[in-house]
Amino acid sequence: MIKNICCIGAGYVGGPTMAVIAKNCPGIKIDVVDIDINRIKAWNSSDLKCLPVFEPGLEEIIKECRGKNLNFSTDIKKGIENADVIFISVNTPTKLNGLGAGYASDLKWIESCARQIAEFLKGHTIVVEKSTLPVKTAETIKNILDSSQFIGSNTKNKSEKKTFTIISNPEFLAEGSAINDLQNPDRVLIGGEDEFSISKISCIYENWVDPQKIIITNLWSSELSKLVANAFLAQRISSINSISALCESTGAKIQEVSRAIGADKRIGNKFLNSGPGFGGSCFKKDILNLVYLSRFYGLHEVADYWEQVVKINLWQQKRIYSLVIKNLFGTVSNKKLAIFGFSFKANTNDTRESPTIEISRDLLQEGATLTFYDPKVKEVQIVNELKDIECEGNWFYCKTSFEAAEGADAVLILTEWEEFKNIKWSNLYNIMRKPAWIFDSRNYIDSNSLKNIGFNVWTVGNP
Ligand code: UDX
Ligand code: ADP
Repeated sequence: MIKNICCIGAGYVGGPTMAVIAKNCPGIKIDVVDIDINRIKAWNSSDLKCLPVFEPGLEEIIKECRGKNLNFSTDIKKGIENADVIFISVNTPTKLNGLGAGYASDLKWIESCARQIAEFLKGHTIVVEKSTLPVKTAETIKNILDSSQFIGSNTKNKSEKKTFTIISNPEFLAEGSAINDLQNPDRVLIGGEDEFSISKISCIYENWVDPQKIIITNLWSSELSKLVANAFLAQRISSINSISALCESTGAKIQEVSRAIGADKRIGNKFLNSGPGFGGSCFKKDILNLVYLSRFYGLHEVADYWEQVVKINLWQQKRIYSLVIKNLFGTVSNKKLAIFGFSFKANTNDTRESPTIEISRDLLQEGATLTFYDPKVKEVQIVNELKDIECEGNWFYCKTSFEAAEGADAVLILTEWEEFKNIKWSNLYNIMRKPAWIFDSRNYIDSNSLKNIGFNVWTVGNP
């Protein structure tokens, strides 16, 4: 029986995942630990609006479980010592320098995590990979744990054997719907070689997930499946975005095409919304990992095939930026453009790889003045995301959509926040400079009503 879980990494994956396990397994005590003291402080904040991750439904679970069977702390040693199961949920961004730069994942956080586990673990522990990782990372973790078995500070008696098994249990939650995805998963994937450990992990999920939905595979299949699932999803977005450009040139409408093709059960209607390209911490990183892996094994055609999905994504962002310029008489220098939405999708405060970043960078370099409004993203996040841009233009953070649009030549809708639907667009029109443009990269607002107000309107994938 699993009694104590430790999750290393209190981020967008670790936080919500452990919250849902805590809610469904009141008999299991869960410690979520992190090296980032500010993040832990935010998780422990009495004001639930200050939690570091915004997800619909998360605040309620934190209120219910925190301080009971769910604790957030920086005491990594204690968390590891007490654990029967350790989930690794640390970040694994793409490497910026050195071997594999731009493609491979940087495993330095995984390595330091494995070393911490090696130092502090006691008795037998199941180590679970939760973060998305390159295939064969389990081997790296195993090597570190194997070679450290007798050197831990907890091993007073050198013959006291620490044992562990490694399991891959990738997370498939999508941000913005994380709690629902965790509560009602399409499947739970558990990969490993040790049946006993697999059954222990499976038992945790069986507290709320139908056992039929639990898929058991070997370790490498599990690791690879996670990368491939994300690559397939991202591929659909690049496919539909490539067709959006063709629609704009030919007179077809992208929503009509999406609907028509999505009605075919073999294709399905999900992930066919054309937009400014995919963002988020996973898609690009995982495809680049797949590309790296394929090249490593000499499968160059396979690598090129998947790399094209990322190239089309960037192309879509460049395409949107250039048509904004073209429509604004070829220049945005000293023009004010209001950017609605900075998070990479609605219902999350996560800005990692948001299409807004790339599009804003290009506009700023053209000399535009940008005003940003996003219902959940804080100014400091925008500062961080834009800090490396050397540019002509300025940008300002605004607290309301109206503040952002005051005197602007155009509004760019880059994230599909529900509240944008409720804007009094006719009032907004009145405070903008004319001709006033709306560039709706998500086909989110009814374009006919905008045109009736007097706006010039561009929407993705429409003639
Ligand atoms: C994704 C996977 O969906 C999830 O299973 C995995 O665990 C992590 O990566 P996430 O990145 O959080 O989740 O969100 P997702 O809903 O997949 O959206 C990713 C990006 O694709 C967003 O920028 C979104 O706006 C975009 N998108 C999604 C589209 O442009 N069109 C669509 O039809 C769907
Ligand atoms: P994800 O989206 O995968 O959850 P995040 O960046 O949101 O990624 O969260 C990862 C968390 O892991 C961060 O809060 C980071 O501080 C934490 N972390 C990274 N390395 C370690 C480590 N060795 N020990 C504890 N926490 C770590």
